[in-house]
Amino acid sequence: MTPARAPAVAAFDAGRLRAQFPILAQQVNGKPLVYLDNAATTQKPVAVIEAIASYYREINSNVHRGAHALSDRATSAFEGARDAVCRFINSPSREQVIWTRGTTESINLVAATFARSRLRAGDEILVSGLAHHSNIVPWQLAAEAAGAKVVSIPVTDDARLDLEAFARLLGERTRLVALEHVSNAMGTVHPVERIIAMAHAAGVPVLLDGAQAVGHMPVDVQALDCDFYAFSGHKMFGPTGIGVLYGKREWLESMPPWQGGGEMIETVSFEGTRYAALPYRFEAGTPHIAGAVGLGAAIEWLAGIDRAAATAHEDALLAHALELARELPGFRLVGSAPHKVAVLSFLLEGGHPQDVGTLLDQQGVAVRTGHHCAQPLMARFGVPGTIRASFSLYNTHAEVEGLFAALHKVRSFL
Ligand code: ALA
Repeated sequence: MTPARAPAVAAFDAGRLRAQFPILAQQVNGKPLVYLDNAATTQKPVAVIEAIASYYREINSNVHRGAHALSDRATSAFEGARDAVCRFINSPSREQVIWTRGTTESINLVAATFARSRLRAGDEILVSGLAHHSNIVPWQLAAEAAGAKVVSIPVTDDARLDLEAFARLLGERTRLVALEHVSNAMGTVHPVERIIAMAHAAGVPVLLDGAQAVGHMPVDVQALDCDFYAFSGHKMFGPTGIGVLYGKREWLESMPPWQGGGEMIETVSFEGTRYAALPYRFEAGTPHIAGAVGLGAAIEWLAGIDRAAATAHEDALLAHALELARELPGFRLVGSAPHKVAVLSFLLEGGHPQDVGTLLDQQGVAVRTGHHCAQPLMARFGVPGTIRASFSLYNTHAEVEGLFAALHKVRSFL
């Protein structure tokens, strides 16, 4: 088999970059690790690991009200990370950057405050038919409480959103549109600017789930003109347990608080409580300080990467994989949108996805199998699940070849 190799991207040396990710150097099941589960979580560079370790080693303390040096230093590091996020997504202000545990919590926050306070019986929320469960269930909970409805935006055979159907669904009753910037299960990159413009023309705000976008492309919330943008640190080389909700100021200021507790108040008495200003109004309790610091370090690390070259490299990995897939009997791609990130969702004839995943793991290849938290999308394609290989900027062409060599071996076992 002659591997088809996409043209090398001179400006981008994934091989050299890998050296900054110690976890990638290990063997798994006696084979060099080929980590292709990046849509689930990316690995962390030494810069991020060290930032978290040195936070705990040198400045660990609670933020904001401590009358001592360590607390001041922790507060500076924590709020400095917020500034880094603000620049990273081009938020008009730092007050519009709210720390959460991750994308799921960010969406739940909007559903529990923005949606619940506005929804009335008969209202509709339009949700992407490719959505992750975290961008479906919170809306169902909010809709149920109000007697409103969640309506899915249909999906085309090549895993795009059907924009004609979307235009027909947008109407008087629509209160919100919620969709992913990039599909986790199939990699489709939606034309979000166009979708947002269509929704806004109908007077409807839009929430974008950016979990799968931030690790692959620069995001500018002002250029997108989205009303809310949710993402997680761990899908962009930062730690788990930390994420962000960005919102337009007018919406955030009009939203009732969500969780109550310390940090989110101005004054408390038994007669009544005055809530804090943005962003603290939505940040009850001690935050994940080390997580924010780690995410700040990931942003700084990404700033040193030529992101256009990284995207070109990832595109080349996907093109290489698709080329090799043609030579693999029984390979069926699920989700062939023309614009997608490097996610290969597929089936192998005669092999249950879970069995294929286990056989790949025995060869050191880490992929994800199952419904990828997108059961409605799997139902749309008539499959219970897929095998998903998802690539990141540190993956190499040799790893693409390793995946397909392993898949050829899997086939021989089936
Ligand atoms: N949402 C993550 C994924 O797509 C876990 O794998």
